[in-house]
Amino acid sequence: MLTIRKANRHDVCDAWDIRKTSVHAACAEYYPEATLSEWVDGTPTDKWASVVENDFYVAIYEELVVGTGMLTVGNGQIDAIFVRPSHMGLGIGRKMLQFLEALAGVHGVAAMRLDATLNAAAFYRRCGWAGDSISTYRSSRGLELACVPMTKHLTVRASVATSDDIRLVQDIRHKSEDG
Ligand SMILES: CC(C)(COP(=O)(O)OP(=O)(O)OC[C@H]1O[C@@H](n2cnc3c(N)ncnc32)[C@H](O)[C@@H]1OP(=O)(O)O)[C@@H](O)C(=O)NCCC(=O)NCCS
Repeated sequence: MLTIRKANRHDVCDAWDIRKTSVHAACAEYYPEATLSEWVDGTPTDKWASVVENDFYVAIYEELVVGTGMLTVGNGQIDAIFVRPSHMGLGIGRKMLQFLEALAGVHGVAAMRLDATLNAAAFYRRCGWAGDSISTYRSSRGLELACVPMTKHLTVRASVATSDDIRLVQDIRHKSEDG
C-alpha cells in the first residue's frame, strides 16, 4: 500500500537521490545533460535539507521512499514532484499530486500553480492541470530551465479527492494542531 507522510531529516538523502535519478531518467530527452547535472548533481546543501525537513511530503511503498512533493500554502505553489525511476508509471506521481491538492483545499487555497519540466507537462495535464506556454524557470542558484507554467482551480480538485486523501490530510492537520 502507498502511504504519504510529512518528511523528516532522515528522508533528506532519499529525497536527494530520487530528485537526481528521476531527473536524469525522465528529462534527458528534453534538456542538455550538462544542464540537468548542474541542476541536480552534487550533494544537498543545509538549506535544501531544511526545506525537505520542513516542507516536503514523501510517498512510501513497502518501506521505501518512492516519491516526493511539496506545497507552499501561501501561494498554492507545488514543487518537487519526483518519483523514483524504478517506480514510475505506477500512479505514485498522481497520488502525491492529489494529496497536495487535497492539503491545499484544507488550507483554503483556491488556485494552484506549478512550473512543469517539459517532459512532465503531459503528466500534469492527465492530472487535470492546464498550461501550454513555454517560460523560463530560474532556480535559487541562478540556473535557467525551460518550463511550462501550469494552473489548477480547486473546485475541479474537490470532485476527484478520494476519502483516503481527505482522511490523510485531516490526520496530518490534527497532528499539527496537537503539537
Ligand atoms: C513526471 C513524474 C512525476 C510522473 O510520475 P509517475 O508516478 O510516473 O506518473 P503516474 O504513474 O502517476 O501517471 C499518471 C498519469 O500520467 C501519465 N503520465 C505519466 N508520465 C507521463 C509523461 N511523461 N507523458 C505523458 N503522460 C504521462 C500516466 O500515463 C498516467 O496516465 P493515466 O491517466 O492514463 O493513468 C515522474 O515521471 C518523474 O518523477 N519525472 C522526473 C522528474 C520530473 O520531471 N518531475 C516534474 C518536475 S516539474
